[in-house]
Amino acid sequence: MKKTERLLRIGVLGCGPISQAAHFDAVRKARNAELYAICDRADDLREAMGAMHRPQVTYADYDAMLADPQVEAVIVATADQFHVPLALKAVEAGKHVLVEKPLGVNLEETEQLRQQVQARGVVFQVGNNKRFDPGIAFAQRFIREEMGALMGLKAWYCDSTYRYAMTDNLQPLILSSQQATRPSGDPKSDKRRYFMLTHGSHLVDMARFLGGEIVSVQARLVERFGAYCWFIAVDFADGSVGHLDLIVAVRGDWEEGFQVYGEHGSVKGKVFLPWFHKSSEVECFSVQDGLYRRPLGADAYTYKLQVEGFADTILNGAEQTGARLEDGIAAMRAMVAVARSVERGTAVRLDSVSGEV
Ligand SMILES: NC(=O)c1ccc[n+]([C@@H]2O[C@H](COP(=O)([O-])OP(=O)(O)OC[C@H]3O[C@@H](n4cnc5c(N)ncnc54)[C@H](O)[C@@H]3O)[C@@H](O)[C@H]2O)c1
Repeated sequence: MKKTERLLRIGVLGCGPISQAAHFDAVRKARNAELYAICDRADDLREAMGAMHRPQVTYADYDAMLADPQVEAVIVATADQFHVPLALKAVEAGKHVLVEKPLGVNLEETEQLRQQVQARGVVFQVGNNKRFDPGIAFAQRFIREEMGALMGLKAWYCDSTYRYAMTDNLQPLILSSQQATRPSGDPKSDKRRYFMLTHGSHLVDMARFLGGEIVSVQARLVERFGAYCWFIAVDFADGSVGHLDLIVAVRGDWEEGFQVYGEHGSVKGKVFLPWFHKSSEVECFSVQDGLYRRPLGADAYTYKLQVEGFADTILNGAEQTGARLEDGIAAMRAMVAVARSVERGTAVRLDSVSGEV
C-alpha cells in the first residue's frame, strides 16, 4: 500500500466484529492514515487485535486513549446505544470523529453533540460507508449535475439469512469475547427497532444521499412468519416522491438497489454486499446524448475509502463527502418518523418527531 507522507493518527474504539472485519484493515490500507491506537476493555480482544494489527499503543481505558495527544481522530465502533455518549467524549477532547451508523438511538441525545461539534470545530463523520461506493458516488454526482429536477425515487434493502454463508467466507474469522462491554438488557431482541437501526439506517441514508432531504413519511409494516416488511412512502423537500422497501429477512438473496427518475435522465443501481468490495452496478441515462453511462469503480473498498475521505478533510481541508453530523441526525429523524407512522397509521412529518427510533 502506497502511503502519503503525512498520516492521520487514528485511534479505533472497539475491537468487535466491525473493527475486525473492516476498520483495522481499512485504516492500515488507507493511503493517508495510520492505525495509531486501538482500545477495548476486553483484554483478550485487545491483545489479539494488537498482536495482529500492530498499532503503536493499545488502551483498555477510553479516557486514557482520549488523553493521548498523539491521537488525532477516533473511530467509534461500539454498540449503537454507546455511539453518541462516546463520540461526544471524543469531540470534547478535541478529536475528530468517525462514528459507526446509526448515529444514535435517541434524537435528544444528539443536541449536546451538535453544540460541541460546532464549538470545537472538529470534523465529524457518520459511517455510512456506501456513500463511498464508486458506483453510488457516480450516480449521486450524475443526479446532482445532469439530471435536472427530480420526480421520483425508489430504493430497497432486503436482508437475507442466506448472505451469512457469503459474509462468513469473505470476512476474517471473528473473535468474540465474554468480556466485551455491551448495552444493558438485550436491545437486539426488539426486532422492529433493531432492524430499523441497523438496516434502515443504510436505506434512509441512500434515499437522502440520492434524493435529498426527506420531509415526511407514511409507513406500513407487515410482520409475518418472523419476517418484517416496511413499505414507506416518502415526500422529499423538492416536491418529488419516493418509495422505500425494507425487508428482513427476504426469502431469497440479499438485495439492495435504487431507481431515480429526473427531468433529463434516469438512474438504476444494483448494490452488492459490502464485503465483496465490488462497485455497485449503476446505469445513468442522459437525454443529452441518448447514452447510458456505467463506471467500473475498480476500488470499491468502501470502509477504506471512507477513512481516506475523512483523513483528506482533516489533513487537507477537502470537502467532506461522507455523511455529516446533520445527515446522521436527519436519518435518525426519518427512522423515528417511520416508527411513529407505523404506530399511528398516518403520514408523519420529520420536523414533528422526538424520542427514540
Ligand atoms: N457500516 C457497516 O457496514 C456496519 C456493519 C456492521 C456493524 N456496523 C456497526 O458497528 C457498530 C459496532 O458493531 P460490533 O458488532 O462490532 O459491536 P460490538 O458491541 O460487538 O463490539 C464493540 C466493542 O467495543 C467495546 N467497547 C464498548 N464500549 C467500550 C468502552 N467504553 N471502552 C472500551 N471498549 C468498549 C466492547 O468491549 C466490544 O468489544 C454497530 O453500531 C453496528 O451498527 C456497521
